[in-house]
Amino acid sequence: MPRSAKYDLLTLFPEMVEGFLRSSMLGRAVNRGLLEINVHQLRDWAEGKHRLTDDRPFGGGPGMVMKPEPIFSAVESLNEGEACVVYMAPDGEPLSTALAQEFAAKRHLIVLSGHYEGVDQRVRDRIVDREVSIGEYVLTNGTVAAAVFLDCVSRYVPGVLGEEKSLTQDSFSNTLLGFPQYTRPADFRGMTVPEVLLSGDHVKIEAWRKERQIEKTKQTRPDLLNNQSLEP
Ligand code: ADE
Repeated sequence: MPRSAKYDLLTLFPEMVEGFLRSSMLGRAVNRGLLEINVHQLRDWAEGKHRLTDDRPFGGGPGMVMKPEPIFSAVESLNEGEACVVYMAPDGEPLSTALAQEFAAKRHLIVLSGHYEGVDQRVRDRIVDREVSIGEYVLTNGTVAAAVFLDCVSRYVPGVLGEEKSLTQDSFSNTLLGFPQYTRPADFRGMTVPEVLLSGDHVKIEAWRKERQIEKTKQTRPDLLNNQSLEP
């Protein structure tokens, strides 16, 4: 199978996510040639004796701002012409299944993770195509956010998960939360698996699972139940 996607991650802390991106399903997808994932040290594009990547903000204020030059140089050298440049930022578009699916259709992503008080605005204005947030909270830097984003996107690249069906049964993909899963042993310390799952009756199993999904969604995310068909 030809490679479906290439992901370049630019960060000041590659060691935070190198292992993560080589492990589990992502590692398998890379080994199978479905994905190419490269983690780059942004400082490699910084100039001068100290290879500085940040500086004080014009106009004053606390913290440091990431300088534009290394970021422009890095993106220009990595972009083969068609890349989508994504900046991880708490004030970006919220990551969702729909957004992940949209990015999974792109052949080349360059993902930039910010640090300090963020990046120079000229980066956001000129070379960033999209800005993505992984949630309404602020992390110390965007590197882990970038890894979460790439993990989430990769699941929708054809072939990465192996079993396409498991995607459609995910929490959120049909806007109900997931159902409980059990495996052997059927009796563990007196805690038994619900009888219906051992019955072999797939119609009954499906109905039971849908009921559990509705119950769980009512309990923890009632907001998801609006405009939702609750038919079994
Ligand atoms: N960088 C810091 N916090 C972040 C968040 N919540 N999402 C994306 N990037 C971030």
